[in-house]
Amino acid sequence: MDNKIFGQVDEYINNLLANEDKALTDTLASLEREGIENISVSANQGKLLQVFAKSCNAKRILELGTLVGYSTIWMARALPADGKLTTVEYSEHNARVAQENIDNAGLSEKVEIRQGKALDVLTEMIVNNEAAFDMVFIDADKPPYTEYFKLALKLSRPGTIIICDNVIRGGAVMDEHNQEDKVTGVQRLNKFLVDCEDVTATIIQTVGAKDHDGMAIAVVKK
Ligand code: SAH
Ligand code: DHB
Ligand code: MG
Repeated sequence: MDNKIFGQVDEYINNLLANEDKALTDTLASLEREGIENISVSANQGKLLQVFAKSCNAKRILELGTLVGYSTIWMARALPADGKLTTVEYSEHNARVAQENIDNAGLSEKVEIRQGKALDVLTEMIVNNEAAFDMVFIDADKPPYTEYFKLALKLSRPGTIIICDNVIRGGAVMDEHNQEDKVTGVQRLNKFLVDCEDVTATIIQTVGAKDHDGMAIAVVKK
């Protein structure tokens, strides 16, 4: 298949509706400067996350996997003045660069970076009876995606929207014999969603600037 058209259309959408300002381009530049692989969401995926955050009037957002804050900035910009985004990042280096990017974007008041393993931070939040989040974006390491999703449910309320990145992986998820842990991790989540009574869910394919992939989108039932 000729995929050129997908990249071109992505550019078209980005130029129209997902323009990056300096804080966002600086954030992408920080990846190169710091030698960190760019596995951020694309510009229009960032805008999609922002649209979701606005559509559910999100005041409290949880993100797993900050990298250097690119998706964080897109989502945090949807928050009202008293809104808050908590983002969890395991790598100390990434968390430090992300803090600089968030400060540079003027979002220090709204964004809290929790450095640590997502499983530990989520467990701690549950033990501490943390208030429910309005939106959760799961984008950390792929093998424990199902565990992240189940813990996110405990930090949710009816109507909470939970979005999981990278659940298609170029279609590799369709291969039942695939052994890569990034693939089997998201396959397990996708199957979990089939019988999960707590959510209404689907998956959208994503194409364009980033490789062919997909996001699972789930809303917690009443
Ligand atoms: N959401 C970012 C991209 C995240 S990339 C964006 O779109 O801009 C995935 C990130 O998850 C990496 O920074 C990686 O260090 C982090 N990560 C990996 N394992 C983790 C874990 N167990 N807990 C928290 N973060 C983790
Ligand atoms: C990978 C992780 C991501 O979150 C992503 O969007 C793309 C790739 C990865 O670990 O390969
Ligand atoms: Mg991702």
